[in-house]
Amino acid sequence: MADRITLEQEQAEELVKKYGSPLYVYDEGIIRTRCREVRALSSYPGFTPNYSAKANTNIELLKIIKSEGFRVDAMSPGEILAEEAAGFGPEEILFISNSVSVEEMQFAADRGIMISVDSLSQLGQYGRAGLPKKTAFRLNPGIGAGHSAKVITGGRSKFGIEKKQLDGVQEIAARYGLVIAGINQHIGSLFLNSDEYLAAAEVLFETAFEFSALEFIDIGGGFGVPYRGTEGRLDMGALSQKLSQKIDDFTARHPNKNIRVMVEPGRYLVAESGILLGTVHSVKENYGETYVGTDIGFNVLMRPVLYDSWHDILIFTTNQKTQKLTITGNICESGDILARDRDLPLPAVGDIIGIENAGAYGYSMASTYNSRPRPAEVLLSPDGQDRLIRRRESLASLSGGMC
Ligand code: LLP
Repeated sequence: MADRITLEQEQAEELVKKYGSPLYVYDEGIIRTRCREVRALSSYPGFTPNYSAKANTNIELLKIIKSEGFRVDAMSPGEILAEEAAGFGPEEILFISNSVSVEEMQFAADRGIMISVDSLSQLGQYGRAGLPKKTAFRLNPGIGAGHSAKVITGGRSKFGIEKKQLDGVQEIAARYGLVIAGINQHIGSLFLNSDEYLAAAEVLFETAFEFSALEFIDIGGGFGVPYRGTEGRLDMGALSQKLSQKIDDFTARHPNKNIRVMVEPGRYLVAESGILLGTVHSVKENYGETYVGTDIGFNVLMRPVLYDSWHDILIFTTNQKTQKLTITGNICESGDILARDRDLPLPAVGDIIGIENAGAYGYSMASTYNSRPRPAEVLLSPDGQDRLIRRRESLASLSGGMC
């Protein structure tokens, strides 16, 4: 199986004709393959992979991932509701909160969902609110990794509780009679070399000996995929070998012989399964640059504008000759650029383009900026059938029912 979803020109054109443009298309087989690779990282019986749903909360994708034996994390009541709709039970959801209101904590607690708090400030509020005795906290292990400073969370960042504040965790827990049942961490998003991840895991393992009632630890996500076709893949075999060894050493020494050890990938499971199809609406020359104008603005895919992220681009055309092109969206900002100076075949108005690796943080970060409805999502099953898994938003829904 190919690493990424592949579409023939005719299929891409048919999908856009059937479901409209722009359009997110996902390949179920690739999601299942990635889930199995993550499950194979460790054979420890308490090894528990958690899907970080913020990467893509489509309910049909959540169901596929659940059927592969994953649990989920949630960042908000909205994610919790999507996960419940996909069939996840309360014990399968971990609410990894970050600066949330007590009402949001209560929302999770009322449903029997474990909450991990992100600061001493929030732990105190949790305790004062009389929420369930068992809780968890997020450790900031002081080591970070990631594709952009905006997504590195270990070390100097707003996230987690640093090691020197752990006495504070114990004090607040004792004051309110709380039991620290879990510790999670996440050092950042997208590594293709796992050295930092493994070093940070070590910090978490050591910290876990300071809390006697632990039921789980969660090492976090961040597993990267190559966005450039020329980049190498994350070596999951090597990571598995090293991580399994560390998990085995840790669990052999830890007093709770049933402690769950979780990992929490988001992007890795869904990124490569997705392609974003769009339509070329203009081709123009301006000040020496050739602009290809499409309907894929940063309201539809935000990553290139927000992080300067690279996505490989396909132009579905029979034209073979390439030239330097700048691909833009239809939003009224000059920064609305998907890719600059790419060697691609010149398309004609009406041609379809495909943005690869769009399955993670694509739809989930889409907005209605410029009052444009969010696109539809379609799933390709292993037998090649296409199925609508989220309708395109309507213009009427944009007005919030006010007119
Ligand atoms: N766990 C926690 C607590 C997280 O905050 C995240 C991602 C993950 C797990 C999963 O990370 P992943 O395996 O997907 O790297 N919008 C950015 C990525 C932001 C990630 C935020 N947190 C992007 O498009 O690259």
